[in-house]
Amino acid sequence: MPCGLDLDRSWHHNHWAHSYPHQPCLHLHWEETDPKPRSVSPRRAKPFAAQGIPITFVFMPLIPLEDNFVDIVGKAQRGHRLSNAELAAAADISPAELTEIKAGKIREPALCKLCVTLKLNVSALLALARRQWYPKQPLFPCGFAMFNTAFEDMHVNSYLIWDSKTRLAAAFDTGATARSMLDTVVAKKLSLRYLFLTHTHDDHIAGLKDLAETNVEIWVGKHEPIDFLSANVFKGETHFHVGELTIKTLSTWGHSPGQTTFFITGLAWPLAIVGDSLFAGSMGGSSTHYYDQWRNNREKIFKLPNSTVLAPGHGPLTTLKQEQQHNPFFAE
Ligand SMILES: [Fe+2]
Repeated sequence: MPCGLDLDRSWHHNHWAHSYPHQPCLHLHWEETDPKPRSVSPRRAKPFAAQGIPITFVFMPLIPLEDNFVDIVGKAQRGHRLSNAELAAAADISPAELTEIKAGKIREPALCKLCVTLKLNVSALLALARRQWYPKQPLFPCGFAMFNTAFEDMHVNSYLIWDSKTRLAAAFDTGATARSMLDTVVAKKLSLRYLFLTHTHDDHIAGLKDLAETNVEIWVGKHEPIDFLSANVFKGETHFHVGELTIKTLSTWGHSPGQTTFFITGLAWPLAIVGDSLFAGSMGGSSTHYYDQWRNNREKIFKLPNSTVLAPGHGPLTTLKQEQQHNPFFAE
């Protein structure tokens, strides 16, 4: 995973989660593909300012995409269970060309052939290879905070949502640590009622210990392996309520057996917290259930409203509309 940014906890606490307590406000503050930190433009801020909604202007670095084009080719190859020799033969390219691509060299004619064999969208993959695409980041009014913490050699996302009127809140995964999330709960005078787990891989639950002193209810999909007590399980489509917010569970298994997407309505945008089902420009890996993951994403996530913001377990936020056009696994 490419990662040139040092995303430490204080950075998240001071920037991602900073806002005005008890007032509607904007939390996400950058735009487009510029790798330099930027602030939200006055043009995009104007409609909110006109409604009297205060806007926090901060500068933010961009979270790198989770997967580059080599990662994507590798995931698709493992998913289709093809050896290097089988893949080169099926795509009618030389083993040397495949080796060069896996080393990060952009060999466009050979990449185009690989895309046909691996059922990847050529334009989307080439745009990623040329570093021409990064998702436009949604502006999110109050009620949403994102935390990105370092776990071993990677970074993992966790999320907090809340209802502005009742101050009831729900967390989604813990990341490596939930301390910044808990600081936000205190700073905003929230009442944390639920912790929902997208899945139980170590990087997503490592901060569970930080929540031991709270009364938070932990919920996880029925088929997800759990080796800790006190977790409640849901199955199928289950609804939860956090004040005026509604959370619907969608089974998007594949990367893990009980992996769940949480679809939330009541915020400024429909929001899907997708765990490792889907990433901006990629999807969660599974060499054993690749087709299941692809199908579940297609049937559950890609059927959500076009305006849905997608909040993945790794990498930046994205939107359904952007993934329809730019995700090599799903673009048509
Ligand atoms: Fe995972």
